[in-house]
Amino acid sequence: MRNFLKVLRRSVAVGAVALAALSLQPAGAQARPAQDDPRPTPGVIGGVPAAQGEFPWMVRLSMGCGGALYTKQIVLTAAHCVGGSGANTSITVTAGVVDLQSSQAVKVKSTRVLQAPGYNGVGKDWALIKLAQPIDLPTLKIADTTAYNDGTFTVAGWGATREGGAQSRVLLKADVPYVDDEACGGAYGSSLTPAEEICAGFLEEGGVDTCQGDSGGPMFRKDNAGAWIQVGIVSWGQGCARPGYPGVYTEVSTFASAIKSAAASLGG
Ligand code: ARG
Repeated sequence: MRNFLKVLRRSVAVGAVALAALSLQPAGAQARPAQDDPRPTPGVIGGVPAAQGEFPWMVRLSMGCGGALYTKQIVLTAAHCVGGSGANTSITVTAGVVDLQSSQAVKVKSTRVLQAPGYNGVGKDWALIKLAQPIDLPTLKIADTTAYNDGTFTVAGWGATREGGAQSRVLLKADVPYVDDEACGGAYGSSLTPAEEICAGFLEEGGVDTCQGDSGGPMFRKDNAGAWIQVGIVSWGQGCARPGYPGVYTEVSTFASAIKSAAASLGG
């Protein structure tokens, strides 16, 4: 089971890269809902378009992943989106727009990547990307306690709008409820690392989820003061939006102090 899922995870990451290599098609080109699907707009999966400026810290990475501005010059993404740690000028970060083809898009290159120490394909799915220049947009703070690992979360990304489908040209968003470790472990068994991963989705019915190409993007909610706070990083799942198989996200609170010190080591 564990090996099977490891393979799945790897192929999913490769799939995202392959999809990104193709030119992005307008959302909907390959993303028609099923005939009897009552949802008006397919999205993340089961999502709707985000408004311009709604999630200003949301970025798209050129290898076909998402991310969030942790500082003006550092993006928090998934470890499986990057190849390792070190100098890296090959990633282009697109920010400031919901439409990736907008002429208003801000594009900045990477200079360095820091993959989570000890990452080996299981858990610890986080990485930082240092940018060549700061981007003048709001940042997304990360949860450093477990207080917000509950409730309803928002996810957003430019990934596939249905399992096996095309990437989205526009940023899509959806809300997904927390799924506790016991229920998520019931779906994924020992492939789940409960201390390092947090699950979300409609366990019974499926239908709403992140998917290939959303990886690295944030899962977030409002804190007690009404500000957005990041609780997860899109990591993996069995297929997308399938009943019985919630999305699995890196548990940000577990790694908050490691992320903070890693960002400091990159010079903030
Ligand atoms: N690993 C995928 C990626 O690279 C994300 C998959 C998320 N899957 C899910 N069912 N939530 O984009």
